[in-house]
Amino acid sequence: MQYGHFDTDKNEYVIDRVDLPTSWTNYLGVEDMCAVMNHTAGGYLFYKTPEYHRITRFRANAVPMDRPGDYIYIRDREDGDYWSISWQPVGKPLDKAQYTARHGLSVTTYECRYKGIHATQKMSIPIGDNALIWDVTITNESDKIRSLDVFSYAEFSYHHIPIDNQNYQMSLYCAGSEYNDGTILYDLFYEEEGYQYFTSNFEPDGFDCLRDVFIGTYNTETNPQAVINGSCSSSFEKGGNHCATLQKGLELVPGEKVRLIYFLGEGGYKEAETIKAKYADPANLDKAYEDLRRFWENKQNSFKVTSPDAGVDTMINTWTLYQSEINVMFSRFASFIEVGGRTGLGYRDTAQDSMTVIASNPEGCKKRIVELLRALTTSGYGIHLFEPRWFSPKDENENKKKPFKSPTVIPEVEGKSRVHGLDDACSDDALWLIPSIVEYVKETGDMAFLDEKYGYADGGEGTVYEHMKKIVSFSLREVGSHGVCKGLRADWNDCLNLGGGESALVTFLLYRALDCMKELALYLAKETDAANYSTGMEELKKITDDVLWDGNWFLRGFTGNGRKIGTHENTEGKVHLESNAWAVLSGAADEEKSILALNAIRDNLFTPFGIMLNAPVYTVPDDDIGFVARVYPGLKENGSIFSHPNPWVWAAECRMGNGNRAMDYYHSLCPYYQNDQIETRWAEPYSYCQFISGKDHSTFGRAHHPFMTGSGGWAYFSMTHYILGIRPGFDGLIIDPCIPDRWDGFTVNRRFRGVNYEIRVTNPDHVQKGVKQLILDGREVDFIRFIENDTESHVVEVIMG
Ligand code: GLC
Repeated sequence: MQYGHFDTDKNEYVIDRVDLPTSWTNYLGVEDMCAVMNHTAGGYLFYKTPEYHRITRFRANAVPMDRPGDYIYIRDREDGDYWSISWQPVGKPLDKAQYTARHGLSVTTYECRYKGIHATQKMSIPIGDNALIWDVTITNESDKIRSLDVFSYAEFSYHHIPIDNQNYQMSLYCAGSEYNDGTILYDLFYEEEGYQYFTSNFEPDGFDCLRDVFIGTYNTETNPQAVINGSCSSSFEKGGNHCATLQKGLELVPGEKVRLIYFLGEGGYKEAETIKAKYADPANLDKAYEDLRRFWENKQNSFKVTSPDAGVDTMINTWTLYQSEINVMFSRFASFIEVGGRTGLGYRDTAQDSMTVIASNPEGCKKRIVELLRALTTSGYGIHLFEPRWFSPKDENENKKKPFKSPTVIPEVEGKSRVHGLDDACSDDALWLIPSIVEYVKETGDMAFLDEKYGYADGGEGTVYEHMKKIVSFSLREVGSHGVCKGLRADWNDCLNLGGGESALVTFLLYRALDCMKELALYLAKETDAANYSTGMEELKKITDDVLWDGNWFLRGFTGNGRKIGTHENTEGKVHLESNAWAVLSGAADEEKSILALNAIRDNLFTPFGIMLNAPVYTVPDDDIGFVARVYPGLKENGSIFSHPNPWVWAAECRMGNGNRAMDYYHSLCPYYQNDQIETRWAEPYSYCQFISGKDHSTFGRAHHPFMTGSGGWAYFSMTHYILGIRPGFDGLIIDPCIPDRWDGFTVNRRFRGVNYEIRVTNPDHVQKGVKQLILDGREVDFIRFIENDTESHVVEVIMG
């Protein structure tokens, strides 16, 4: 069953049927302010942090789902009938009113046609503004004069999630509202600068600032009392719950259209006046849309593919890029599932995300990499979850003494307690950072970065290269009795809690990190370092063969009691995805074992919806292995199709030259190809989800937790770098596609260090991998070498065979 379609030309997903089984999300804003919005205008707005500065309220995990939101109600004065432009909250029957929702890149538009009135509500946060703009048009498509009242509604939050959810004997008296000259001012009194405004480009005929007055105590957003009455009550108060309602009466002759623009922003009256003036001419708002479009177009131009596969093109050029960028911009803690109650950065998630979109966002990725470097300890492990400001040089404002200490100040985690000990360290966290840094310097050519100095979380400082050395030293040191890296609190799998046990996955991640370090050291002519890394790799290769090979696949590790995990001797959790994918992808496994390991994944873990994390599922709690055995079978880390590691397998298959299989796997997980299976999938078909119920669960195929997942970044990375096979090297571009043999070829427009390359790949022999000829601007070459100060565009012909 299908609920919508991709409008590829406009970079939009159009929801034609709005009665979706679950929220379909979009993210508005590309700087400090962000709105998480669903297909019925439900969602919330925050400034910088959803934990401490949530501007509009959200009732998480509730029914009706994902309310409140940013609503526009229209009421017909003639008969008192009213509706909302977004289907919810009024929810007119779908055979009486027509609704659509369009999610685009940083823009969402709701649209409704009802009783001859056509209305649209376009939501965006323009670049350079700290305001969510609601751009509303109302057109009289009937043949008589229409007399309407239009009401806006958003519910303000008490900023801090804890204050918003507890201890109301304090919370209820921390916020106040007032109205002056067309502007509602919301004031979080406990904060020094706790103001927000709501204003418009017209002179309102009425207003309400008190939620309970506008809605009515026994009503809901579906039937607000003020809308039923057709008039607001001019309510405001110090204390209580507050809303943003401006009322406007309209008389529209047939064919007449009005444009009402609302601004919900950070700041007080001054900021409200500034934004009103800026957009007094609505053409300026049209220009702001154009700026946003260009912002994304510029990113899209870093890698644009035209292939025989429409799903690949739409996802890679638009949606998967978008998802990956959003994860780098807003970290992983603001969605309808992660409702903002914990923010900061997760070390491993951020380290992986920042490797994936360096071509389209070098500054953003570098910023994240630096934050991670500063959160590295001198021992070489990362702080698993941290606030970047803990370890950033203080800016002047932060040092300014606060005039009062309010109950809503951000709780300060002081000094030592920010730096957790080894007991809380995850064995994989910092290992992800090494390939990300190497990728960063390859993509940008910014070798000087390696000599930049940054602090350590527990004191002292070192160059980037020194940080990297500490990371590998830590993992080389923290090994168990089999010589395999320790699992510590967890490795990539949060639910595999091996403590003193050992992790094959981390051993392979270390192998890859050493390989990256070796390549880097050779490039920097640090021969001794390179030789040491090479020795480390040799030792790990031996362990890979002698200790971690189980006969047909690789073990997942050892428990603290020395029991094997992921062996044919087990009855549950025999085969695991992570260790087998990384044995191959890291290069630690030899060819024969690589083939067998990948076959084991295919034979034991592959389903029509993607690759499961492990099989058979765990049904008996086993605390020696960890929490994974206490998770319901088929969900999350216990045998679900965990999306994030799926692209590891695509890349591993490409390493072995299996383009057909890599693409089959790509298709199985690809949301685009489930657009007509929403009765099973539930979630949006334009974003990867954290996991999909595995075959041992009654909801097999259902996708959970969109957007905020490493699967976006990894899907982008594996497709662009391994399947399409275009990746940066220190000195130029490497072109090494691994595609389905049925493909005749594909074209990629790639921006690399500011230079545009049009890469035309043809596949006359219908192979899966191998390049027999490389022609740069008509001349045969063996490598696409980057020339400093090059300003030309180039054409690269790649003939596979
Ligand atoms: C979640 C976590 C991630 C972890 C994964 C598997 O996605 O954010 O850090 O690797 O679960 O447990």
